Amino acid sequence: MGADGAYASGSYMTGITGLQDMAGAPTADIVAIIKDETHGFGGMMDDQDYLDLANFVSAGQFNIDAYIDRGTKAAIGDVAKGEEYFNTICSNCHGADGSLPKDMPLLGALANKNPWGIIQKIMNGQPAENMPALRAFGPQVSTDVLAYLQTLPVE
Ligand code: HEC
Repeated sequence: MGADGAYASGSYMTGITGLQDMAGAPTADIVAIIKDETHGFGGMMDDQDYLDLANFVSAGQFNIDAYIDRGTKAAIGDVAKGEEYFNTICSNCHGADGSLPKDMPLLGALANKNPWGIIQKIMNGQPAENMPALRAFGPQVSTDVLAYLQTLPVE
């Protein structure tokens, strides 16, 4: 959502135009934009990387406002289902109360502070960490997990 989204103000403020208008666009058009002078990615990525990014922009976007209430930050999900997913998939690495790994902030705190980021991490993984990208969950299951995370200890 760029300048219209969660990072419209505060320390993450970007002021850039959002990508939503490019949802469904031909990937070749998106690749051409990512390769332009403005972005300056020349030499940093190979053709597969460009295509992966273009596929994400074209086919990977969804309306996050259908899953997280922008005013209250509450997940629009099923806590009981989320608890089952969490306890079978996440808790082995993150602990039953979301307090692992030790060098990470509590999952309960993160989920209440920046719920949008949690959906991204569940679906796309944590860069350079041993965290699986659970893209197959889709937004609804990810939101059910988020709803449960919002009930975990925040300190
Ligand atoms: C194989 C182990 C593993 C599994 C399974 C796993 N994670 Fe992670 N996760 C990690 C590691 C390692 C990190 C990075 C920890 C760090 O930054 O210190 C991480 C990071 C995260 C972050 C980012 C935290 C931040 O600092 O922004 C979130 C959110 C998260 N995990 C949620 C989940 C949820 C929810 C599930 C289940 C759907 C899950 N993880 C499953 C290992 C795992």
